[in-house]
Amino acid sequence: MTSRILRLGVNIDHVATIRNARGGRHPDPVRAAKQAAAAGADGITAHLREDRRHISDNDIDRLMAEIDLPLNLEMAATEEMLAIALRHRPHASCIVPERREERTTEGGLDAAGQRAHLAPMIDKLSAAGIRVSLFIEPSKTQLDAAKALGAPVVELHTGRYCETEGEVQAAELQRIVDAAAHAKTLGLECHAGHGLSFDTVTPVAAIPSIVELNIGHFLIGEAIFSGLDSAIRRMRALMNDARGVTGRTA
Ligand code: PXP
Repeated sequence: MTSRILRLGVNIDHVATIRNARGGRHPDPVRAAKQAAAAGADGITAHLREDRRHISDNDIDRLMAEIDLPLNLEMAATEEMLAIALRHRPHASCIVPERREERTTEGGLDAAGQRAHLAPMIDKLSAAGIRVSLFIEPSKTQLDAAKALGAPVVELHTGRYCETEGEVQAAELQRIVDAAAHAKTLGLECHAGHGLSFDTVTPVAAIPSIVELNIGHFLIGEAIFSGLDSAIRRMRALMNDARGVTGRTA
């Protein structure tokens, strides 16, 4: 599972956040997804939240119909979201914890504690041909639980690493390094994401067993200053440099 290839999934949620601030159609997240594809994204990620605070059901309909790249649908482990995923059959579903009062996805899924709830959901998604990933903290317990649940993919939460500094940040990075190594020994495909920026992406991208990063908020914010195309290309270049790759398909 060690690979030089590192895919970039661009999360377009916050294009919808800006659109929804005025309630119209601009800026359109589907247009952003098309621009991300042109700039070198390998996939599009969108989180349909229970309260529809950014991405809407109609956005998911349009992303499925209009985008050629694989769609990674982030979703809470609810019956409503399961039904939506089974209706659309996106390339992938990433199961995330969700609380209405949080501003973003704070902390990973408790795969170990929610086994009975998650197992049938993972089975149904997998049976429909949807690649399931679990968004978890970089911990051995959670990785072992994800493996026991039969999820083929885990996404390691990088939020704490991105938010901290100095020795604390170094320790958080080490947790991610160790977790990625453990994922490899378990035969789990390993992704990472949350809070990554130009300043924080390199050490995570350099971890060889991680094969996909999902990045959103920073890229959409940076697009205000440099444009989305430029922000994605720069992120892609940093990821390639970290991996010692000159072209994106090398
Ligand atoms: N991966 C997962 C599972 C997420 O929930 C999010 C946030 O929606 C991201 C990646 C992207 O995080 P950010 O927007 O901070 O880059």
